[in-house]
Amino acid sequence: CADDGYRLWLKYDPLPDATQRANYARSAGFIAVSGNDPVLRTAASELQAGLQGLLGKPVPVIGSAAGRTGGIVLQVGSDPALNREGYRLASRGNNLVVSANSASGVLYGAFALLRQVQTGASVANLSVTSNPKVKLRMLNHWDNVNGTIERGYAGSSLWKWYELPERIDPRYRDYARANASLGINGTVVNNVNASPRFMTDEYIKKVAALADVFRPYGIRVYLSVYFPASKVVNGPGKPALKSADPLDPAVRQWWAEKVNEIYAQIPDFGGFLVKANSEGEPGPQDYGRTHADGANMLAEALGTHDGVVIWRSFVYKPAENADRFRAAYEEFTPLDGKFHPKVIVQVKNGPIDFQVREPFSPLFGAMPKTPLAMEFQLTQEYLGFATHMVYEAPMFKECLDTDTHVKGPGSTVAKVIDGSLHGYEQTAMAGVANTGSDRNWTGHTMGQANWYAFGRLAWDHTLPSDGIAREWVQMTLTRQPKAVQTITDLMMRSREIYVNYTNPLGLHHIMGYGIHYGPEPWLDKAPRPDWRHTYYHRADSVGVGFNRTATGSNALSLYTPQVQQQWENPQTTPLPYLLWFHHVPWNQTLSTGRSLWDELCVRYYTGADSVRWMQQQWAQMKPALDPEQFDDVAGRLAVQQKEAIWWRDACVLYFGRFARRPIPAPFKAPD
Ligand code: GCU
Repeated sequence: CADDGYRLWLKYDPLPDATQRANYARSAGFIAVSGNDPVLRTAASELQAGLQGLLGKPVPVIGSAAGRTGGIVLQVGSDPALNREGYRLASRGNNLVVSANSASGVLYGAFALLRQVQTGASVANLSVTSNPKVKLRMLNHWDNVNGTIERGYAGSSLWKWYELPERIDPRYRDYARANASLGINGTVVNNVNASPRFMTDEYIKKVAALADVFRPYGIRVYLSVYFPASKVVNGPGKPALKSADPLDPAVRQWWAEKVNEIYAQIPDFGGFLVKANSEGEPGPQDYGRTHADGANMLAEALGTHDGVVIWRSFVYKPAENADRFRAAYEEFTPLDGKFHPKVIVQVKNGPIDFQVREPFSPLFGAMPKTPLAMEFQLTQEYLGFATHMVYEAPMFKECLDTDTHVKGPGSTVAKVIDGSLHGYEQTAMAGVANTGSDRNWTGHTMGQANWYAFGRLAWDHTLPSDGIAREWVQMTLTRQPKAVQTITDLMMRSREIYVNYTNPLGLHHIMGYGIHYGPEPWLDKAPRPDWRHTYYHRADSVGVGFNRTATGSNALSLYTPQVQQQWENPQTTPLPYLLWFHHVPWNQTLSTGRSLWDELCVRYYTGADSVRWMQQQWAQMKPALDPEQFDDVAGRLAVQQKEAIWWRDACVLYFGRFARRPIPAPFKAPD
């Protein structure tokens, strides 16, 4: 039957090669596991379901191997080579042993073993040790009470609030399985633009019901907080307060009680995520207090409970002559060292807002005393929604692998995030989820790969993007080697192609206003200066780009001298970042030998042409793919092709008005 994509990468259809099946089957005669730990039981049942499907034969789960050989043994022990959630896969005699220091570690090991089989890797003489590099690996859902998802493009929310807590949609469990298979261990279920309802008893009960489903998969729930909830939420015998001032004792008491109410129903509650004094959301600054005052108040309210406060740094203020690039840095770096140990500050990868390419946020490396978490966006708000194919792993890696130089060469963003650079106790990586009620979860079939890649990189940021893509293709789409290679290649090029036909050479924030889709570089009227797109590209008769050097906003000075050096000279700035930092004359010759104007045109035109190439490549894959998945992607590529031309023509015509130069041969002027 056709594959509707529901099973994601957890497809356990029988391996096509009987010899291969028989080989694996020799090591999978049974699964031995003792005890009743729910997470350990999950590990056994997932492994059983997976192997039975892949090998086409029953695999019994037994209480103890008791001298039997030719099976899999699941074990919790104490292994000094492993951290709390790491695992080891090892051949011992004729058995395969999956061991860890916790039940969650065994669960991750079980999924790793399944991955070996799904991707056709050998399990003979197995010796794999793997430790997650980051402790909290989480999805952030921007889901609302009414079932909509802010910036969600795959249908409505997975959470059916009106049915909870009584009815448990079976999909909640499938969601948990998918996340656990990647090592994701936390989920924030509601939008950062948070409704105060999530602090009511009615909703805490609903969230507790979700937590009950996720717990056996090692996943903890977190809630986004409406900072002034104390002013709106009443309880029986507990009227709302007049204030949300974090230093007001009554407010602190209100939160301490709220925390206890939550933990009474969700004993492993993960904590709070907070967007405050950002884009109109209220916060501690409304009372003359700082972000640290607000975050610390919530951290103290958590008391001895094992939870954290994740406070977002995504802030910027409307100001005519300021540079939004600098805003988060200026508000947060003075607070370094002032946060409670339970507070983590969550930083978007770039200084503006999930653009197609951004230099890394200058906060990374600049707050040695405050654990900083990474926030990536899986939902493709600025990357063509669920219509355009953009494999994001290369973009995530680009940020993680960048050297901040704060402690000499090799001080990468990844080392800030995994805590190794500054010795952070808490470490976290979050992905703004791209899931929804669409049958295939992410709308675009290929969007599943972004969820997958995020999870794999949150576990181990050193994994290569192409390796992750290959794995995902093999598990999700096809095992035919030529097709695996072609699709991996297509995915690896997809982000740069998107950059070329939308925002080449470091252009940014020129998309449709409000909706964030399609081109609108001409936008010069908006309620705030930093919502106008002319603010970002600054095109005029001389050139285009935002001067962020010392002669401009000097945002460049927020980086270390070594980083500044890479980006301060327009002659030597790598072309992908050029217009992020420089206002470059239209006639300036670039390293490609072409003028800026010509290069811009070349990128827009070749970018749009490349989508045709993507279509051709995909068309050739038809025999290797499931017809439903093939058609889904082919249809979306056709839209992408049309819209790449829309972007190209809109931008070339618009910028051409300033450049007043012809579109270079061999490209003809758009009609
Ligand atoms: C973007 C996005 C908003 C979102 C915000 C945030 O600006 O467009 O919808 O609320 O980011 O991350 O808080």
